[in-house]
Amino acid sequence: MCGPPAFMKASYATLRTLGIAQDRIAYEFFGPATILEADIEAVIAPSSMQVVAPPLVTPAPTDAPIVTFVRSGLSVAFDAKTGSLLDFAESVGLTPDFSCRSGVCGTCKVKILSGQTRNIETPLDEVNAGEILLCCCVPETEIQIDL
Ligand code: FES
Repeated sequence: MCGPPAFMKASYATLRTLGIAQDRIAYEFFGPATILEADIEAVIAPSSMQVVAPPLVTPAPTDAPIVTFVRSGLSVAFDAKTGSLLDFAESVGLTPDFSCRSGVCGTCKVKILSGQTRNIETPLDEVNAGEILLCCCVPETEIQIDL
């Protein structure tokens, strides 16, 4: 399937409700991901886990929760102006895997090792306990994620 985001979400939800397995649903997503053209460097980065000169720890602007990207060795105060955790990770120089940026594909799924997050968009992909979709959530408390 392919179409506007609302169509994609509704179609995907309908198929999943009908019992169609996730791996039997093929799609292309031309919605929000097209926004990435403005930041093409992040899209075409040779390594999906490349860190671009991050600070080890930056001071929190207020009482912003600290996000620790464990595998990257980076702890940074969350900046709510960036949007989702996916947007925030990119803003601090990380290049996590992603595709749809809207909770459909599951590409941005990572393990959360501690802390609490809140969904800012309802994921359409299945998310197991201990996992989050970076594109759908923000931290509510200090968190550690496997990224
Ligand atoms: S990028 Fe597709 S679910 Fe997050």
